Amino acid sequence: MNQRNKINGNNPDKSVTGALVVNDLSIVYKTRSGVLKAVDKISFKIKDTQGIGIIGESGSGKSTLGYGLMRSLAENGSVVSGSFIFEDQDILNISEKDFNEKYRWKKISMVFQGSMNSLDPVFTIEDQMKEILSSHRKKISSKDRISIIRAALTDVGLNPDFVSRKYPHELSGGMKQRIVIANALLLGPRILIADEPTTALDVVIQSQVLRLLKKLREEKNMKIIVITHDMSLIPNLVDRVIIMYAGQAVEISDVKTVFEKPLHPYTQALIQSIPNIRSSEKSIKFIKGDPPNLSEIGEGCRFIDRCPHAFEDCKNDPPDILIGNNLVKCWLYKK
Ligand SMILES: Nc1ncnc2c1ncn2[C@@H]1O[C@H](COP(=O)(O)OP(=O)(O)O)[C@@H](O)[C@H]1O
Ligand SMILES: [Mg+2]
Repeated sequence: MNQRNKINGNNPDKSVTGALVVNDLSIVYKTRSGVLKAVDKISFKIKDTQGIGIIGESGSGKSTLGYGLMRSLAENGSVVSGSFIFEDQDILNISEKDFNEKYRWKKISMVFQGSMNSLDPVFTIEDQMKEILSSHRKKISSKDRISIIRAALTDVGLNPDFVSRKYPHELSGGMKQRIVIANALLLGPRILIADEPTTALDVVIQSQVLRLLKKLREEKNMKIIVITHDMSLIPNLVDRVIIMYAGQAVEISDVKTVFEKPLHPYTQALIQSIPNIRSSEKSIKFIKGDPPNLSEIGEGCRFIDRCPHAFEDCKNDPPDILIGNNLVKCWLYKK
């Protein structure tokens, strides 16, 4: 803890942690059949060391949002509007060189979807981690490198003596997921984006990885952005949730609201589709129909065809309505 934090006690200086502000972010992909808007005017803020969850069905634009923030979009993808302010800097508006030198992996880091399956099979865990360190921190002694790697492995609950010399195929799925998290944390980022961090894992391991992410967020004083299609992962991990539908944020609420009194009809349907262990109901309610094709978006609410409450107004683009601290994009709430 630095001197200023000590003086402030439980009230850490805002300039130390700093808010993260995403404003009006839109991202498109150029495809053969035209331009596809994968992220449409998304805005949110993460204060202090909060976490935020990004939830939605497959194809709703969650990964694209993560890649956009990490400046790692596919070749045919580009940010067409918006800003991402962190520590008073618009990170989307600096040169690639500056971003690589000051931000990528150092301040903002990402566990990519499926990355535990792309660990290099021909290198030991320690060699892969050494490679990451040497490519991003040129002036580092061999002794320091080893101690940073050992600390990172210990942080994610692995025994360095056991895993350092192993090859990826010698480790379980849960261990490999811990390795990719350790890799993402090697350079001490202030923001961690985790894209579907538990998807390929069985349920017991899933909850261990979630507990790990929560512990790391607290101990490392990081902001965390968790991307998932699985609502049930969220309650203990983050404070707020962005519900994405067809590229838009249809609701941004605190976790309690999302689970107890969801605002948007889509969020309500998502909550109802979580299987309830205690319920004797055999059939899980899934949401009927499909989201619209993102390259053929017209005027009006994108959920209209699937919404049980749709009415005449919904043929026009819905407004963003603030209810307390929460935001919902829906005509039902227009006074
Ligand atoms: N490189 C790409 N080129 C064209 N379309 C893409 C590309 N990557 C993703 N998409 C499309 O963008 C939309 C959002 O995808 P994605 O961000 O991966 O969603 P999610 O992570 O929520 O499943 C989808 O319609 C997907 O098919
Ligand atoms: Mg994805």
